[in-house]
Parts: sequence; structure tokens; C-alpha cells
Amino acid sequence: MLNGKRIVLIISGGIAAYKSLDLIRRLRERGARVIPVMTKGAQQFITPLAVGALSTEKVFTELFDREAEQDVGHIRLARDNDLILIAPATADLMAKMAHGIADDLATAVLLATDKPVLVAPAMNPKMWDNAATQRNIAQLQADGIHFVGPERGEMAESGEAGLGRMSEPLNIVAAVENFISRETDFSSAEEQKASLTGRRVVITSGPTHEPIDPVRYIANRSSGKQGHAIAAAAARAGATVALISGPVNLPDPEGVQTVHVESASEMLQAVKDALPADVAIMAAAVADWRIASESDQKIKKDATGAPPALSLTENPDILATIGHHDTLRPLLLVGFAAETQNLEANARSKLQRKRADWIVANDVSPETGIMGGDHNMVRIVSKTGIEDWPHMGKSEVAERLVTRIADFLSKPTP
Ligand code: C5P
Repeated sequence: MLNGKRIVLIISGGIAAYKSLDLIRRLRERGARVIPVMTKGAQQFITPLAVGALSTEKVFTELFDREAEQDVGHIRLARDNDLILIAPATADLMAKMAHGIADDLATAVLLATDKPVLVAPAMNPKMWDNAATQRNIAQLQADGIHFVGPERGEMAESGEAGLGRMSEPLNIVAAVENFISRETDFSSAEEQKASLTGRRVVITSGPTHEPIDPVRYIANRSSGKQGHAIAAAAARAGATVALISGPVNLPDPEGVQTVHVESASEMLQAVKDALPADVAIMAAAVADWRIASESDQKIKKDATGAPPALSLTENPDILATIGHHDTLRPLLLVGFAAETQNLEANARSKLQRKRADWIVANDVSPETGIMGGDHNMVRIVSKTGIEDWPHMGKSEVAERLVTRIADFLSKPTP
């Protein structure tokens, strides 16, 4: 997949640098050549010796290195590659990039490059949330810099939880592969780009987690693969995409504004915040119920040994709320119906009840392997009829759905 690709990997100074060692291995396993550049800060966390051994390449560390300048030079380093990947990217490095500062080798390479740059940020959640960091990120996005992560989780050093953890190496590799295959497939992407240009699309994806107490929750087996694939396909087709994602083990799709939520109530709020839009695609497996009164302390076993009685209450139905909304309902509202029986009848009744335009119905009986798997077999149910699609990959379902949406928007007939 990455055969023959040259990736300049810039490692800056954060504790997540230890994951970059594994990242180098994973990229090389897939055939990439990894040319490492380390900042001074990075060398406080991992050694050039380890990075050199794993990459089997010279490790570049100094801007004014006579030997390296004669041999490669920062300009060649900046240009002679398919992609520059920064992992981990600290708040400081991103701030320098946003302002065009070039006071060491890494920042000089970044200022001199005309190649795509993919950034995997890693920092304390408070640093990520800081208005200055958010300003810099917005600037970098406007400059065409691509991002993978950060993810939500516990920080290695402080144990604090929040957004700021570097994406796992395999997620970064997936983003690199996705990016490189998209660049290689540039002509077909360009062809498609016209189709949703200027359109805004809101997509929900993944499961929701409904808390029982601070450590336990109710969840389902949705992986988010289908919703995320649709978000990526819509972005490739030129749409401005907001993806509202429940907790999933997937990288944020390239070129998509991703909002991470946990519960159905949070998802509904995030969807409302992301609307209005031309199209909304509700692919998330939203929990139908939540715990009626979430405990704010961990529920303990009591002396009687009697299990706690958990009483449930109904969650808001996001699709139905938007379907019946006076001002927020988009031009085209697409729902999903995961069923284990009476597929068609259930899809039809959802279409009506939730005031959706189309329902993408699939059979999720365990023997189909659809839930959590990479393939899907769907029927598109609309007011006017049913289309059966053959068994295909979830990314192909996504591409087809996006093409169908683009057709619909170009000549709006139901
Ligand atoms: O009724 P059911 O949950 O099977 O309907 C599935 C469709 O409704 C999906 O599009 C799903 O995203 C949406 N849904 C929702 N909010 C809920 C439950 C389902 O948006 N609380």
C-alpha cells in the first residue's frame, strides 16, 4: 500500500514520542521509507539511536549541520518526499507552523515544503482547548494542513482525561494510507469533487454510551465504519462535512470536521449545533434507552447481595427530532435501519414515523457479519420504491450513497 513512498517523519517533544517508534515500524512494514527529523524536545523523550535503528535511515536533528547540508540540505528534505508526517506534534510546533517561524530543522523543513503535511497532535487537554492553540489549528486547517486526531483519553503523564491524546500508530498509518491513496487517485477524486461542492452534510456515526455510573455504561456493537466511510466519501465529493461520532476505534476521516460525543443526548445537541445543512445522514446506532437516574458515584455491592435495579428511560430520537423540526430539517434526510427481522416493513414504518426521505436498511443478524464487519448489503427504501444493492464493501456503499445524493440534489425528485 505504501510501497516506494517516502515519508519525512517529524518527531517533536512530547511523551507520545514513544509511540513514534512503533509508528516507524508500522509504516516500514507497509513498504514506506521513513526519513526521521527530531526536534531537541523529541530527543529528551527518545533517542536518535533508537529512531535510526528502527528507520534504518540517518536521523536529521540540526539545521546548521554542515555535513547534512552538503549531503541533503533542509530544502531537499522538505521537497524530496510524498508526505511530511508530524507525530507527535506539540502545541509549540503547531504554533510555530501557524506563524511561519523556522528556528530549527523541523520548522525550516515545514516552511520550505510544497508537499502535503499530516499532523498528529499530542498534548495536555487544557493546552489543546486553549484559545491560542485552537486559533493556530484553525489557521493551519485554512492553510491546507491535514490532521489525524487527537483522541479522547487519559494522558500518560498526568492521568488527566480529555481531548489531546495522540492517535494510535495504526490509526495514523490508516490516515497516511487514506491520504496517499486519495492523492494517487487524484483524477477520479477531481471528477467526483464537482458533485457535492458547496453542499453541507451532517453525519452521525458509531454507537452511543449511556452512563450507569462514573465507570460503567450501556453500549452496542456498532463500529462506526459505515458512517465514517460516508463522511470520508462526502468530503472527497467536495462537501463540507460535519461528523458527529460516538465512541469508536477509528481515525477521524480526512477533511471532515469531527465532533466526538458519548451519549444520545450529547449527540442530539451536537447535531443541532451542526445544522442547518443540505443533507443529514443518521448512521449512528443511537441507544434507545438510557439509565433513568445516572449515579454520580460508583455503585457498590451491598451486604444483601441483591443486584441494583436499573430503570431505563427513553432517549431522544435524533432522526425523528430533526425530521419533525420546522427550521432544522435538511433538504434530504437519510436514516438507517438495522434490523434482524421484517426489514422492509420496519424500514417503511421508520420512514413515515421519523419523517425521513430515505432509509438505508440492512440486516444485522449475527450470521450476516455486518455489525462491526467491513461489508454491507443494503436496501434503499424511499417513498417511491425500493432499491436492492448487492453485497459490497462499506466504502463502496458510501461512494454509491454519495453519488445517489449528488444526483438527487442536482434534480430533486423523491
Ligand atoms: O428506530 P431505530 O433505532 O431502528 O432507527 C434507526 C434510525 O434512527 C437510524 O438512522 C438512527 O441513527 C436513528 N436514531 C436516532 N436516534 C435514536 C434512535 C435511532 O437518530 N434515539
